[in-house]
Amino acid sequence: MAKKNQTLGEFIIENQASFKYTSGELSRLINSIRLAAKVVNHEVNKAGLVDIIGAAGETNIQGEDQQKLDVYANDKFIQTLTNRNIVCGIASEEEDDFIIVNSQDENHQNKYVVLIDPLDGSSNIDVNVSVGTIFSVYRRVTPVGTPVKLEDFLQKGSEQVAAGYVVYGTSTMLVYTTGDGVNGFTLNPAIGTFYLSHPNIQFPEDGKIYSVNEGNYIHFPIGVKKYIKYCQEEEGDRPYTSRYIGSLVSDFHRNMIKGGIYMYPKSSKNSNGKLRLLYECNPMAFLAEQAKGKASDGFNRIMEVQPTELHQRIPFFCGSKNMVEKAEEFMREYSE
Ligand code: AHG
Ligand code: MN
Ligand code: MN
Repeated sequence: MAKKNQTLGEFIIENQASFKYTSGELSRLINSIRLAAKVVNHEVNKAGLVDIIGAAGETNIQGEDQQKLDVYANDKFIQTLTNRNIVCGIASEEEDDFIIVNSQDENHQNKYVVLIDPLDGSSNIDVNVSVGTIFSVYRRVTPVGTPVKLEDFLQKGSEQVAAGYVVYGTSTMLVYTTGDGVNGFTLNPAIGTFYLSHPNIQFPEDGKIYSVNEGNYIHFPIGVKKYIKYCQEEEGDRPYTSRYIGSLVSDFHRNMIKGGIYMYPKSSKNSNGKLRLLYECNPMAFLAEQAKGKASDGFNRIMEVQPTELHQRIPFFCGSKNMVEKAEEFMREYSE
């Protein structure tokens, strides 16, 4: 049973037994993500000091090359998961191909693959706005003892065993699910410990917030345009209010707590939208459903889409159940 103020470490140990495949491997994996999140958090917090300690592409005072934060975050998550021999494969937004992780005995004994967006919302870094990390975990489908293959990563979202994100915001939080609800942990930076601050988070069934990049409005499908107008119309307890940070993690996090919908539809410029199915939409969809929300491509459940490519994009509508269903209604009615 989740107890407020419990540390993430305690929570992981306590909940290990309730997980159906209890070998401790998934617990070690979440622990590694916790560690990498703290390291990346430390670096993200220094981003505003760029003029003082050097920008990406420069050499710092110790003669080290400064890295862009998304490359830094990518390296840290990959290092943490490979050095500690936790997973058998990793796919990342920052890597063209998936990485085969060889266990120390070169036997490929680990069962899990991880997919990550190491730094989400990276264009917000320079202006001191929240960014995040997104992760998604699957059991491999190819036999243990052999190198992982593409099919281990191209699984439907419904096969995820864990997913979550870190939001580097006014506070740093780690929010994750292993299929038994969603829990949020807040970092106390003074002592570097995550505490359970948001047990069993749930999307309000209805919401007031719609989040979409309205700069793309003229390029949106007619169903999306009509839905946005519906949100703006004064009727009953409408109009809704608009909030868009431009970091999926932060927009999702706010909407999950306050109630709302996040949309990144297709447009006449991007036929599949912008967001990536495997390491952005699927993990967010798993979290949304575990928090009693919904995630759709406008017509179908995101987690039922069969992926065909590592970096494939998909239109994304995610958030409070009633809002997503309303958006789907408009999509169906005005489908071109
Ligand atoms: P990333 O920084 O990992 O490339 O992801 C950015 C994504 C997502 O976080 C955000 O919601 C969306 O791009 C914003 O896109 P627009 O600037 O087109 O609105
Ligand atoms: Mn992203
Ligand atoms: Mn990214």
